[in-house]
Amino acid sequence: MAKIKVLFVCLGNICRSPLAEALFKHKVSKQGLTNLIEADSCGTSNYHIGDWPDERTLVNALQNGIEMDHRGRQITYTDLEKFDFVFAMDRSNYENIMQLANAETHKHKVSLMRSFDLENENADVPDPYYGGARGFQDVFEILDRSTENFLEYIQKNHLK
Ligand code: 4NP
Repeated sequence: MAKIKVLFVCLGNICRSPLAEALFKHKVSKQGLTNLIEADSCGTSNYHIGDWPDERTLVNALQNGIEMDHRGRQITYTDLEKFDFVFAMDRSNYENIMQLANAETHKHKVSLMRSFDLENENADVPDPYYGGARGFQDVFEILDRSTENFLEYIQKNHLK
C-alpha cells in the first residue's frame, strides 16, 4: 500500500508548520504507523530556506516533550502532486497554496489545519512570530489537538 503523505504549510516554515509536522510524526510513531504515513512541512515564502525552526518554537516544543528536526523550505508545485493532504495554517497560506494549485485534484487536497480543531473549526492557527511566549504555547495546544484529530480521522477513514 502506498504511504499516506501529509504536508503542513505556513508562511516562514520556522514556527507553525514544522511544529505541526513534529507533533504529527510523534503521534504517528506512537501509534506504530510510520510505515504507513509520512509527513513534511514547508513555507509559502522563501524567507527561511535552510533555517532551523525559530528558537522559541524549539524551546516550547522541548518543554512539551517534542523534538524537532527540520530545515525551512519553500513549497513547490511538485508538493501538490506528491502529497495527499495539504494543511494551511491560516487563510493567507491557503490562498497562496491555491494560487499554485491549478488542477482540481490539487485543490481538493488543501484544507485549513483547524478544520480538525473541534474547539474552533473555522479559525486560523495564529502566527506567533511577533508575539510572546504565551502565543507559542497556544499554537502548540491548537496543533496538538488538530493533528490528534486528523490522525484519528485517517485511522478511521483511510487505514481500515
Ligand atoms: P511561521 O511564522 O509562518 O509560523 O513560520 C513566521 C515566521 C517568519 C516570518 C513570519 C511568520 N517572517 O516574517 O519572517
